[in-house]
Amino acid sequence: MNSEHEKLVVIDHPVVARDLTILRNKETGTAVFRQALARVSTILAYNALQNIRLRETEVETPIEKTTGFEIDPEIVVVPILRAGLGLVDAITTFVPDARIGHLGMYRDEVTKKPVDYYVNIPHGIENALVLVVDPMLATGGSACDAISFLKSKGAREIRFTCLISAPEGVKKVQQEHPDVVIITAALDQKLNDDKFIVPGLGDAGDRIFGTT
Ligand code: PRP
Repeated sequence: MNSEHEKLVVIDHPVVARDLTILRNKETGTAVFRQALARVSTILAYNALQNIRLRETEVETPIEKTTGFEIDPEIVVVPILRAGLGLVDAITTFVPDARIGHLGMYRDEVTKKPVDYYVNIPHGIENALVLVVDPMLATGGSACDAISFLKSKGAREIRFTCLISAPEGVKKVQQEHPDVVIITAALDQKLNDDKFIVPGLGDAGDRIFGTT
């Protein structure tokens, strides 16, 4: 993270550029889409866990005792349903004991505003690092609602991870939640009149779950 834009991390990596191309391609089918998503989401998760606190521990190698490290904060992953589920496995790859909360939200096709339909968040998120995950940050309505809700439940350290973001959504999150770091694989051009990200990749949920 560089200091000037430390609250926005845009991943710059050849593998991500290649995989984003696969994800954006309208001809990419469900199986190949999922494979590319698995790779990109792993890189996103790796970056979302950057700079987390460690606690020292002692480890005995076959040669001698030395200092080791354990992840200090409890990690809570909160996917915004449904599409956010596609980014959960990447976090648990690195933090197998992460707890997972679920926030069900869809964007009303007429009003373009998020609507809650399911909430199940673990207790004790006050001292956890909460990673909110959703492939798309479009208007930012869903992300801001999710973050506000988690703060109302006591969350104090939140990072938002997404595959593709629009400048409008980044701006809204940064204005309403300036403490939240955004980690994204791409910052796209804009939103269209239907509030879809341009060029984007279409509806991430439909493409992950094969519902088109
Ligand atoms: C999409 C996406 C985000 C939201 C982004 O979900 O996964 O949750 O829209 O839009 P916003 O930034 O303007 O709020 P969608 O409503 O398509 O639901 P789904 O996850 O069930 O596909």
